[in-house]
Amino acid sequence: MKQNVLVIGSGGREHALAWKLSQSPDIGSLYVAPGNAGTAAIAENVDIKVTDIDGLLEFAKSKDIHLTVVGPDDVLAAGLVDDFTKAGLRAYGPTRTAAKVESSKSFAKDLMTDNHVPTAKYATFTDLHAAKDYVHGHPTPIVVKASGLALGKGVYICETLEQAHQALDEIMGEKLFGDAGNSVVIEEFLGGQEVSIHAFCDGNSAKLFPPSQDHKRIGEGDAGPNTGGMGTFAPVPWVTPALMHKAHREVVQPILSDLKTHHFPYKGTLYPGLMVDGDDIKVLEYNARFGDPETQTYVRLLETDLLEILNACVDGTLPDLDIKWSHRTAITVVLASGGYPGKYDKGLPITGLSTAAALPDIEVFHAGTTLKDGEVVTAGGRVLGVTATGVDLKDAQDKAYAAIRTIKFDGMQYRTDIGNKAL
Ligand code: AMP
Ligand code: GLY
Repeated sequence: MKQNVLVIGSGGREHALAWKLSQSPDIGSLYVAPGNAGTAAIAENVDIKVTDIDGLLEFAKSKDIHLTVVGPDDVLAAGLVDDFTKAGLRAYGPTRTAAKVESSKSFAKDLMTDNHVPTAKYATFTDLHAAKDYVHGHPTPIVVKASGLALGKGVYICETLEQAHQALDEIMGEKLFGDAGNSVVIEEFLGGQEVSIHAFCDGNSAKLFPPSQDHKRIGEGDAGPNTGGMGTFAPVPWVTPALMHKAHREVVQPILSDLKTHHFPYKGTLYPGLMVDGDDIKVLEYNARFGDPETQTYVRLLETDLLEILNACVDGTLPDLDIKWSHRTAITVVLASGGYPGKYDKGLPITGLSTAAALPDIEVFHAGTTLKDGEVVTAGGRVLGVTATGVDLKDAQDKAYAAIRTIKFDGMQYRTDIGNKAL
């Protein structure tokens, strides 16, 4: 029987998920709320805000939605999956409590300690003076993090004691991130290379995706401020199968087992960010969702029907499913608005999209775009994700950058070194 599906969100991740779901042999009507100009071409955009859970629930009931797929972390933290499940509807993603692995860094840290998951040494504080005293006794660099969700901006890598004090003043004193800063985590600085792990989880067990690598800084060579992510590739050639087994055994499975034992089974995508130094792996954080732009890269490699996988996670039947990934390499390069991650203009016309999309092995996923008088214009900081596949990383990279040369909008910026670290 055909299944109607609702995807929640408006970014590149959601365009990529909708694109893959639209290829399922079982897909009926596909909706994205609120979506962007890219999702409008492959699905029906629904004008309901992601924060309007009641509105989304009414919509899902009225359209006989078989599965709702949640993109953003704040929607999970707000309990969409709890509310849909209570109403007898199926939703892919963790419940509010299970999503605390991402929405509360102090919860995540305690969970890691309880389960002997390797992570940076840390302490948690709700008192500004106690937090300041603590940094005095510890070496720099030191890392200060707002415990709650802060749009990826609540992490400060502090080179000096003064910087750490300033970070604490901003988070706890000035409440720069609101209630997300009621509690802070202070932890040791870890060296190494970052790797993104993703796992489909069905409450009991997990199946890992190939490893990927994000590029979080705005500038070439990882310089400048953090962003939501400027580009990714997968697989990461130097991450061995042994390392992936270790991540499964020491980083993913203990968390699933603990949450299940405490009656909060984790269903959805678990995305630990790792710091890898030789054979040593440490968890930087857990995310309770698909990464963005990791997802844009992953959908180019996934060969199994995504709808079937997501249903198996919700139904708890993941072990029965054989998930296949292509042996090719995929890359995503993000095209961002001039000024991002600071202030930027919106409403600028984008040209060259169809020329780029017609090139071999290219898909262009929309993130911050909208339609104005039938024309695609910019509407966000990260505007597009140009993805390519190739026989290896160099091949994929060459194709992506050739496609980018055909796309233009005023102020467009992107990193020219996505993937270079692994070449
Ligand atoms: P998080 O949101 O906790 O993943 O932190 C955002 C980014 O800050 C990470 O992707 C790392 O680049 C960096 N980071 C976080 N924690 C540490 C740490 N303990 N040592 C070094 N870098 C870190
Ligand atoms: N790629 C970073 C994130 O999704 O959090």
